[in-house]
Amino acid sequence: MGQTGTSKLISVLGGTPAKRPPVWMMRQAGRHLPEYLELRARARDFLDFCYTPSMATEATLQPVRRYGMDAAILFADILLILDAMGLGVEFEKGVGPIVQQIDSAADLGTVPAQKAADRLAPVYETVSRVRAELPRDTALVGFAGSPWTVSLYAIEGRGKTDKSLAWRWAHGKPDELAAVMDYVIEATAHYLVRQVEAGANALMLFDSWAEGLPDNIFREVIIRPTAKLVTLLREMGVTVPVIGFPRGAAAMLPEYAELTGVTAVGLDTAAVPSFVKASLPAQMPVQGHLDPLLLIEGGERLDARVRELVAAYQGRPHIFNLGHGIRPETPIANVERVLKIIREG
Ligand code: CP3
Repeated sequence: MGQTGTSKLISVLGGTPAKRPPVWMMRQAGRHLPEYLELRARARDFLDFCYTPSMATEATLQPVRRYGMDAAILFADILLILDAMGLGVEFEKGVGPIVQQIDSAADLGTVPAQKAADRLAPVYETVSRVRAELPRDTALVGFAGSPWTVSLYAIEGRGKTDKSLAWRWAHGKPDELAAVMDYVIEATAHYLVRQVEAGANALMLFDSWAEGLPDNIFREVIIRPTAKLVTLLREMGVTVPVIGFPRGAAAMLPEYAELTGVTAVGLDTAAVPSFVKASLPAQMPVQGHLDPLLLIEGGERLDARVRELVAAYQGRPHIFNLGHGIRPETPIANVERVLKIIREG
């Protein structure tokens, strides 16, 4: 199932290179936009914002209206699935997300996986409202966190840690970790199926904490669970493209691209075009990888880097994006400048 529509983004994800790459930016719906801040001030808290379809729809559409981005990213968060599983999730200003911590796989799974996905009905309502309002040639990207990154938040209990607890589970109790991830995989598959049924044209898996893992652990916690999730999605009838974003995968990127079954890979700020081109199949679409901090600084170095990245992937299926999310302090004029260079040369 899944309607891919007629957008430039979907054509590139289908393996056809574009003369000028389609462009969107991770976290484009958010705090660098004054219209977002105004809307956000009206919500009780961030979760309430995500669960109110009128607000989430508006936030999703804002960057498309302002910039004419080639894709909209659903306004939601990778931690909603943990909230739906019954773990308390809170977003505190300056502290980042706080999640009710688990000590074992048994602490999770009190809510059946499919039921957890059912609880996210407001998100599907947002997807269908957005799809109805978007221009036909603008793709809607649905998303979820990857099994490792979502499980890591439940294990660590918060975002701003050194991640050593989750890594120690990976080394010391791999079966317990696998049980947690299996449950996350099942719930996430249902969640993504429902997004596609509601109108998402492509899916993205955010693996924000893939960086620095030893190669054997990377295979166990990133590659294998991602492959399992993608296989399950395909078995459940999802046909839309899946973009995998293993942030910080470095030398493991080729293996990730080869073995997970994702359609395309998202590249982080440290990606090197020569390495990417030499190590990924020529027909595999890539998305990335401008440094969001350079986007804040702007100027000639920004212009030059944008041109360099566009030129580097010329002739390959390439979606222009950032290597990580856009920062709140990003000047709107710099985003406009990047779009102008990509579209006009
Ligand atoms: O434009 C978009 O991408 C909007 C949808 C979106 C959000 N979060 C909204 C959000 C997406 C795709 C995400 C993904 C996400 N969330 C990731 C993966 C990408 C990455 O950055 O690595 C992660 C790790 C999270 C978890 C998360 N959510 C954190 C760590 C934080 C707090 C830090 C921060 O940036 O504020 C959030 C909150 C969050 N998610 C906000 C937004 C707009 C800010 C909340 C607010 O407006 O008060």
